[in-house]
Amino acid sequence: SLGNSNNIFWQECPVGKLERQKLINQKGCVVWITGLSGSGKSTLAFALNRQLYSRGKLSYVLDGDNLRHGLNKDLGFSAEDRTENIRRVGEVAKLFADAGMICIASLISPYRKDRDACRAKLPDSNFIEASFLTKAVFMNTPLSLCESRDAKGLYKLARAGKIKGFTGIDDPYEPPLQCEIELQQIDGICRTPTAMSEQVVSYLEEKG
Ligand code: PPS
Repeated sequence: SLGNSNNIFWQECPVGKLERQKLINQKGCVVWITGLSGSGKSTLAFALNRQLYSRGKLSYVLDGDNLRHGLNKDLGFSAEDRTENIRRVGEVAKLFADAGMICIASLISPYRKDRDACRAKLPDSNFIEASFLTKAVFMNTPLSLCESRDAKGLYKLARAGKIKGFTGIDDPYEPPLQCEIELQQIDGICRTPTAMSEQVVSYLEEKG
């Protein structure tokens, strides 16, 4: 098929996805973790990465913060740049899944339409959106827990007006309307990263 410009043709690879899957004895998929800054996306992503590794399954984390050091270093935090950020990571995640990897993407990914566009790139069963929302989001004190942690000190800077367009402060976050897994974090009764990643692993096992 043709791409955006003319004279570009799709080249079929000689080794197919099923052959790769058989070779490494696993199926590729994408686990997409969305949520506010400080909601624990990276912690969950890394716990999941470790747990899968100890079960002999190869996974790889595409973390928003890390990718912004390389692949996405030209992007900022405007709506357009965030959309392009998610589009690129969605494409990379698709390649990882096609390669046979369990790809764990952890990005704020604040816009529903951008997450939906990523989902649409993959067959249904290959995309799992883990919504890592603090319970506060549902309790009309949406930022209290994330902000009280403020591990990077960014909420403080955003409140002081030193960062403009910070998600949840003066920039939007659209929680998923429906998702495969919802992990609620409630102040005082936080579950451990291991317990939460076990839930995701069980889900993956259940889905084969
Ligand atoms: S997005 O919205 O999906 O494109 O963001 P992402 O690529 O995941 O990057 C989020 C991390 O960037 C830091 N940071 C900001 N976040 C939100 N809004 C603004 N304005 C901003 N500026 C810098 C912040 O460390 C985010 O990391 P996490 O891990 O989410 O806390």
